[in-house]
Amino acid sequence: MRVIFVASEAAPFAKTGGLADVAGSLPKALNSKEVTVEVFLPLHAKISNDFRKEMAFIGETEVTLGWRHQYVGIFKMNYDGVTYYFIDNEFYFKRHMLYGDGDDAERYIYFSKAVLAALKFLDLKPDVIHTHDWHTAAVNVLLDHYKNYDPFYDHIKTVFTIHNLRYQGVFDPFVLGDMLNLPQEYFNEDALKFYDSINLLKGGIVYADHVTTVSKSYAHEITYPYFGENLDGIIQKYQHKLSGIVNGIDYEVYNPSTDPNIVIHFDKRSLNRKNELKMHLQIKFGLPVDPNIPMIGIVSRLVDMKGLDLVDHILEELLQEDIQLVVLGTGEKKYEDMFKYFQYRYPHKLSARIYFDQYESHAIYAGTDLFLMPSLFEPCGLSQLIALRYASIPIVRQIGGLKDTVIPYNKFTGEGNGFCFVNYNAHELLFTIKEALAHYQDKSNWRLMMKHAMSADHSWKTSSKEYLAIYHKILGIKNS
Ligand code: GLC
Repeated sequence: MRVIFVASEAAPFAKTGGLADVAGSLPKALNSKEVTVEVFLPLHAKISNDFRKEMAFIGETEVTLGWRHQYVGIFKMNYDGVTYYFIDNEFYFKRHMLYGDGDDAERYIYFSKAVLAALKFLDLKPDVIHTHDWHTAAVNVLLDHYKNYDPFYDHIKTVFTIHNLRYQGVFDPFVLGDMLNLPQEYFNEDALKFYDSINLLKGGIVYADHVTTVSKSYAHEITYPYFGENLDGIIQKYQHKLSGIVNGIDYEVYNPSTDPNIVIHFDKRSLNRKNELKMHLQIKFGLPVDPNIPMIGIVSRLVDMKGLDLVDHILEELLQEDIQLVVLGTGEKKYEDMFKYFQYRYPHKLSARIYFDQYESHAIYAGTDLFLMPSLFEPCGLSQLIALRYASIPIVRQIGGLKDTVIPYNKFTGEGNGFCFVNYNAHELLFTIKEALAHYQDKSNWRLMMKHAMSADHSWKTSSKEYLAIYHKILGIKNS
């Protein structure tokens, strides 16, 4: 079986969020004797020369947007056992940012068309095309149309994965003729129409043979208005073809016993070494060195959805406790300023790095005792999975993927690997953190919880089988 992944970003080539981690690790996990997964990506400016040197130019074709003919260069490379194709067009992709430009609609519709054109040019006929988020949802829509007149695309089935329902690709209806070159009938409630606009993510849902999202709980939540981002009605309508498949992480990359990003390695039998990693982290982040102080980590995009307004409400009170807090990430200015302000007020307790650095992120997962992730909504979340793997006990809100992956600690049975709260309420969060801090004092119980955390399996093993089952289903292959 041949599967083509189409994504706007994939690690390690270009990454702004969790989508890149999934698109960069799931293909490798799926590849087997039975399935070959290849990946199409835009040749973004930020893809480094080291990678470019490894790429081979394999041809060029063109696509039409409205009346405009646009160049499509195709490069190919093999990385970590997976074949990647890069779509080259400097006008669209020689930009500093992956998203956020005024012509995002055109850039990603171009990319979607370019992928379909490249497949035909290369005579590469997949059984399944698997697209991700609004940026590539136009592929699902265009295929529906191409199938009517071009037999090359006839038998291709599609899967569309929603990584985050909040970003939908909503644009002026003139895009339909001017970029997608689709007939007016697609401007219809049963097609792309969304109020007075067109919605590409909606198109992905309507036209894909199967839709997935990245956890079972989120798949359920988005059928309700609270999480449905104005698409709950459509999602309900297509619920029969919607599945929630929880994300995994690459257990080779995130492995505390071999990780080259951390200075000391550990496993379930050598958890004491986490104290040394904590002291390294304290030195690195300029905090007083003391292995007995509970240390909390935040590695996150600093945006509303991550629940940082709750943190804002309670930070003053939290910092009265005997704790240390380390923060890594960038995002909205108000949250960057918030952490800078509290770092200024409590330099011995809070250290914030307002940037992203892979190496430092691993040091935080490995060196902290607790990991904070009180998201407003969370389709899956990957950081809590990494935290579990490095025995940094997650404190999370019990929603979406957080609910599906963190097991609340039960003081009566000793089961569980994290601390959870339900309501989006700052004092519930504070109470939960204080509860975690109280349990931290009970060293033997804490050690048990760390072992539970490290024993949880969040590799791709189970989830990749679920994707395979969906490919089988839409292709009419009986599972053996
Ligand atoms: C998005 C979601 C996150 C998910 C990731 C990968 O970033 O917000 O919850 O883990 O995509 O699917």
